[in-house]
Amino acid sequence: MTLSVSGLSAVRSGRTILHPTSLEIPLQIRIGLVGSSGSGKSTLGHALIDDLRAQGHTVAHVPQSPDEALDPLRSMAFHWREAETALGLPPGSADQAGLFGALKIEGGDLSKRPWGWSRGMQQRFVIAMALIGNPDLIVLDEPTSALDPVVAAATMELLSAFLTGKDTAMILITHDLGLAARRVERLMVMDAGRLVETGRTEDILERPKTRAANALSTHRNWMVLPC
Ligand SMILES: Nc1ncnc2c1ncn2[C@@H]1O[C@H](COP(=O)(O)OP(=O)(O)OP(=O)(O)O)[C@@H](O)[C@H]1O
Ligand SMILES: [Mg+2]
Repeated sequence: MTLSVSGLSAVRSGRTILHPTSLEIPLQIRIGLVGSSGSGKSTLGHALIDDLRAQGHTVAHVPQSPDEALDPLRSMAFHWREAETALGLPPGSADQAGLFGALKIEGGDLSKRPWGWSRGMQQRFVIAMALIGNPDLIVLDEPTSALDPVVAAATMELLSAFLTGKDTAMILITHDLGLAARRVERLMVMDAGRLVETGRTEDILERPKTRAANALSTHRNWMVLPC
């Protein structure tokens, strides 16, 4: 199966911030959606999620910060039950032990509120919730930018390992090419509300065709960083 959208666009305050965009996303693929700040990555991510959900696909979203996904007044157990309920699953039926094991969520007290957990563990918990029900696609919007580099790298490694062999496709939105380059087989480059270049990761890094891709690949020495 391939996830497919066509003619996605967005206008805000009379300005076109996403020009008509069509995409084909095969299952199992891992794609990096990259581009400078304000190029329209999050806008495309949201438009894509809305369109695919309207088509009946299951699409999970992981925001930049766990604060956006977790209510500080609710326990972690409450959030987990809410995620199950949203998917129409009976409480306690998701494979919590499997997901917690895969994402190394260890020793966390589920009766605590988010601030009783470390930031890294909160974000891994948010990713685990997103993976309940094996979605067709998981869209992660700058998922580790609020974490320190070592925790960020470990989180991406755990997610990559978990997704290996699964049908769930992944779109990793980031302006950190170092984070994307090692974990995605394809890159989509955005510039000023348009998808200007797509292709295999190494092709875009080695032979960028557009100004935006060239600007990103110029910084490919970032790839030596651990995250
Ligand atoms: N609700 C809105 N009203 C007006 N302009 C908006 C709105 N949302 C986004 N924009 C503008 O649209 C453009 C794209 O925004 P978007 O958040 O998609 O970029 P981005 O690539 O995700 O950036 P970043 O890397 O900083 O997260 C930006 O110029 C932004 O200011
Ligand atoms: Mg964004």
